[in-house]
Amino acid sequence: MQEYSGQVSWQSPSNIALVKYWGKFGVQLPKNPSLSFGLSEAYSQMSIKFSSKKEEKAKYRFFFENKENPAFGDKVFRFLDELDKEFPFLKQLDLQIDSKNSFPHSAGIASSASSMSALALCLCSMQQEVLGDLQDEQDFFTKASYVARLGSGSASRSVYGGFSIWGEFFDIMESSNEYAVPFTYEVHPLFMQLRDSILIVSDTEKTVSSRAGHALMNGHPYADARIAQSKQNMSWLTAALQQGDTDRFIEVVENEAMSLHALMMSSKPWYSLLQPNTLRILEKIRAFREKSGIFICFTLDAGPNVHLLYTEDDEIQVMEFIENELLDYCVERKVIHDRLGFGPKRIG
Ligand code: PMV
Repeated sequence: MQEYSGQVSWQSPSNIALVKYWGKFGVQLPKNPSLSFGLSEAYSQMSIKFSSKKEEKAKYRFFFENKENPAFGDKVFRFLDELDKEFPFLKQLDLQIDSKNSFPHSAGIASSASSMSALALCLCSMQQEVLGDLQDEQDFFTKASYVARLGSGSASRSVYGGFSIWGEFFDIMESSNEYAVPFTYEVHPLFMQLRDSILIVSDTEKTVSSRAGHALMNGHPYADARIAQSKQNMSWLTAALQQGDTDRFIEVVENEAMSLHALMMSSKPWYSLLQPNTLRILEKIRAFREKSGIFICFTLDAGPNVHLLYTEDDEIQVMEFIENELLDYCVERKVIHDRLGFGPKRIG
């Protein structure tokens, strides 16, 4: 039998959804289409060393931030066990995985999108090296997105830079529930210089996981209306991105953020991840937009932290606003400045 050994490494970013995926069916399939952009500074780096197994049972080791971490490792290797169909060669290999994030665990940024996409990209590179296939770039990224989705739905969108779409959406023919696709229409230059300053209202573990939140959409009284709303918002946002329509962008993006949290509050049982300081910040943003007239708005993830969106042109004014009016509402005055990024890259 042929002997294999090698190492593959990828750096992959987190992403922030503008139209939110909320609710799933089947095997990690989304109930509604979503659209996000990849970040630049918040990323995971993952590296897999592989060699033909020496004993009957393959050996797996997992290191997180240079320390062996069997607890994280168990989760990852259980996931790899389920990927037998996608990567049949895996069970022939001893593996050592090293992973690290550019952002601290306590930053309140979900690391599942960046880490699952980095893992999926590494696995596809291994397939290239071991089997010699997946040479076509589109096939490679489609498979990486498909595999990332099985790990964490939103991770499917992290394999592309710029804007991407996951979930069937009639306006984008190539869109799919199985994997994400890049947003191929030309985006107005204004939106290509998007900034995202993440205001850290809380850096503690959230009380209700996304997995539990998605499950509460089964039988949710507003489920059908939510699906219809997300499709309408997708149409508006995809047009706004091309036309540079900032008013429409603000309307859709803030509506999506508030609707996500409204769905949580109207679930049975209800819950809320917003905190008083989240709402204070949102009011401040609205007042500042009305006063200054600049393009600035917010989105929210499934948590209390606020993603403040604006463009490079207004950076100086926005930095002052953050410093003078928002940091008092953040834990230890924490903010992470990020921006639209250009996607994952192979490293090492
Ligand atoms: O990928 P998950 O299962 O962690 O779900 C993420 C859901 C949201 O972040 C709230 C929305 C989205 O589309 O990313």
